Amino acid sequence: MSDSDLQTQIIAARAYEESFVPALFGQWAPRVAALAQIQPGNHVLDVACGTGVLAREAVSRVETSGFVAGVDASPGMLAVAAELAPLIEWREGTAEALPYNDQRFDAVVSQFGLMFFNDPDQALNEMLRVLKKDGRLAVAVWASLESVPAYAAEVELLERLAGKLAADALRAPFVLGSPDELAQRIANAGFDEVKVTTHAGMARFPTIRFMVEADLRGWLPLMGVNLTEDQIEQILHEAEHVLRNYVNADASFELGAHICTGTKHR
Ligand SMILES: C[S@@+](CC[C@H](N)C(=O)[O-])C[C@H]1O[C@@H](n2cnc3c(N)ncnc32)[C@H](O)[C@@H]1O
Repeated sequence: MSDSDLQTQIIAARAYEESFVPALFGQWAPRVAALAQIQPGNHVLDVACGTGVLAREAVSRVETSGFVAGVDASPGMLAVAAELAPLIEWREGTAEALPYNDQRFDAVVSQFGLMFFNDPDQALNEMLRVLKKDGRLAVAVWASLESVPAYAAEVELLERLAGKLAADALRAPFVLGSPDELAQRIANAGFDEVKVTTHAGMARFPTIRFMVEADLRGWLPLMGVNLTEDQIEQILHEAEHVLRNYVNADASFELGAHICTGTKHR
């Protein structure tokens, strides 16, 4: 990767940390860490760690006797993660080929990454491989798009004003929204005591415009979709009217997620 490509990725990752982590992702890290039963002294891996919000939560739980690592495919995300928490071990790699030996970790956690992997089943095999016997897994995915009317309305708006590619980029985070299918995949990978729990959560962007602009200028380019300024202005203009029906007065709205847990007994 050239220096300028890396700089572009770092700028996008800083925007992700500033806009999306407080609005969407931050609230899930304590829940995922709790369901993985992370204890003082544990060795923990965060897969698809992004800028590291869940790995930082894990550090606060393992205390000084433990060890936390984060793996992500994006060097830009990892650069920002390392600025925020230099003492965590950050490694570039894919979830489908984790850069760790067998039976290295007491717990493997991952939030809102599984739906983006080229091969989610291979990634689950890898999570099992790097866990010690009796090690714990906790994986979070968003609930289905149909359960989040604000995003469903934004997807429709994008389909109408920017086309299918743009709409699909916003559908992508929600594609693993079936709890039964998620549990089946995790059991198929060889985990025992598989359980999915569904949790209420809130999206808290400061305004509708901020939310949609973060998607158009932040999320879509990460998914390879770049809109023109004219398209962006038209979508932002219409979004104010369309999304108002689906958000509270402070622009917040309900956004639930499934957290699947499992244990490695074999
Ligand atoms: C929506 S972000 C979630 C990041 C983080 N877990 C959080 O809660 O903020 C999805 C992350 O998955 C990473 N990712 C996508 N495909 C990957 C793969 N095959 N292996 C590792 N990381 C991947 C992306 O680089 C991105 O950082």
